Amino acid sequence: MHGRANLAGPEGPWTSIWGYDGTVPGPILRIQQGRPVRIAVENGLDEDTTVHWHGIRLLNAMDGVPGLTQPPIKPGESFVYEFTPPDAGTFWYHPHAGSLVQMGRGLAGPLIVEEAEPVAVDRDLLWMLQDWRLSGDKQIAGGFGSTMDAAMSGRVGNEVTINGSAPTNQPVRAGERVRLRLVNASLARIMALRFEGHRPVIVAIDGQPCDPHEPEDGRLVLAPAMRIDVAIDMQGDPGSRHDVMDDVYDGLAYPLTTLAYDRAPPLRANPLDLPRKPLPEPDLADAARHELTLQGGMMGGGGMTGMGAMMGGGMMGGMMGMGGGAAWAINGMSMTGDGHAGMEPALTFRRRRSVVLKLRNETAWWHPMHLHGHSMLVLSRNGAPVPYRQWQDTVLMAPRDTVEVAFVADNPGDWMLHCHVIDHQMAGLMTVFRVT
Ligand code: C2O
Ligand code: CU
Ligand code: CU
Repeated sequence: MHGRANLAGPEGPWTSIWGYDGTVPGPILRIQQGRPVRIAVENGLDEDTTVHWHGIRLLNAMDGVPGLTQPPIKPGESFVYEFTPPDAGTFWYHPHAGSLVQMGRGLAGPLIVEEAEPVAVDRDLLWMLQDWRLSGDKQIAGGFGSTMDAAMSGRVGNEVTINGSAPTNQPVRAGERVRLRLVNASLARIMALRFEGHRPVIVAIDGQPCDPHEPEDGRLVLAPAMRIDVAIDMQGDPGSRHDVMDDVYDGLAYPLTTLAYDRAPPLRANPLDLPRKPLPEPDLADAARHELTLQGGMMGGGGMTGMGAMMGGGMMGGMMGMGGGAAWAINGMSMTGDGHAGMEPALTFRRRRSVVLKLRNETAWWHPMHLHGHSMLVLSRNGAPVPYRQWQDTVLMAPRDTVEVAFVADNPGDWMLHCHVIDHQMAGLMTVFRVT
C-alpha cells in the first residue's frame, strides 16, 4: 500500500512510496528454519501484484511469478503464501509483477531465516540497501523503463538508503563481533563496500554459508538482489570513527556511512570462532551440461567506469532481430516482462538431476543472474576455479565473463533465471527451466 518515507535525510521532504505495510523497507520477517510459515498478502495497490521470496527453496506454486506459478493478485484481493524454509540465512521479498515500478517505488522487504542454533555474535545487524532515483523535489522520479535504462545499466538512482533512510552514523562498541547482513535491494546499482580500518569476513553469500574468507581487495561486491553476511570484529579504538565507502564506480567513491565507536572499553580481547554448514552436492561427473549465452544491450558501454560510461556508445549492436521492447536475449531468445502464462521452458530437467550451466556474457554490461528456487555452486569464473565454496542464487557477471555453476534440480515446476537489473529482466534477459 501507499506510504511515506524519509529517504532524503533529516532536512529533506518526505517521499511518497509504495511499501509493504506502507513502510520502506517492508517489515523484517524473521522466521525459523524448517518451520512452516503462512503469510497473507493483501493487494492495496491499484494494479496486479505478487510476492516472490527471493532465494528461498520452496514449492513452485509459492514462487510468486505471475502467470507462471500463480495468477496475479488483483487489486483488493489476497493470496496466502505458505512455505517451510529449508535454509537459514538472509533473504528478501519483492513483487514479481510490475516489478520495475513496484520495486522502484519501494516494495521490497528483508526475510531472515533464523538458525535453530544462532551464530555466536554480539549483535545481528541488517542493512537493507536501496537506491532511489529522486527528482528535485525528492519524490520518486517517473520515466520507468526508458529505452536507455533498458539497454544500458538499468535505472541507477541518485540516493542510497540503509533500512529506508538516508544513512546516519552506525554506533558500535569496541571488541564486539557483529553479524552484518547486507542486502542490495536496488533496481540496478551495484555496490562495493569497503570498511575502512576493518576486516570483514564473509560467512555467507545469498543466505548460504561459504568457507569464511576476507573479500578480494577488502571490497564487498553486492549486485542487485545479492546478500552477503559478514562477521566484523570491531577492533577500532573506543571513540574512533571509520567510514564505510562504496567505490564500485571508478572516480565516484562516496562514504555510505560511518562506524562510530562509543567510549566503552573493548568487549573482549580475542575474536570468536565462525560456524559453517554444508549443502547437498551436485554430481559433476554425471551432470546435464548446457550453455547459456547472454546477448544484446547497447555496445560500447559497460565497465565500472562511472556514470559517464552509461552515456557512451550508443550503437544498438547486438540487438538485431529482437522483438518489440526487447534489448537482450539468452541464446537468441528474448523473454520479456515479469513472467506470464505460456512461457516455454528453455531447458527441462528431471528432479534430482545435477546440472552444470556455463553462462557466457557476450554483452558489454554487468548482469547479476538470478535463479529462482535453487542455490548454485559457483564452480569457475573465466576458467579459474572459484574458491571458498560459494553457493549463490544471484551470480554477478562482468562484461565478457564466463561462469560455470552447478546445482541439483529440485522442486518440480517452472523456475525463472533472469538478470536482476530489473530493466534488463523486463527487456528480455530471462529464461525458464522446467523441473519434472
Ligand atoms: Cu528476486 Cu525473479 O527475482
Ligand atoms: Cu528469486
Ligand atoms: Cu543485466
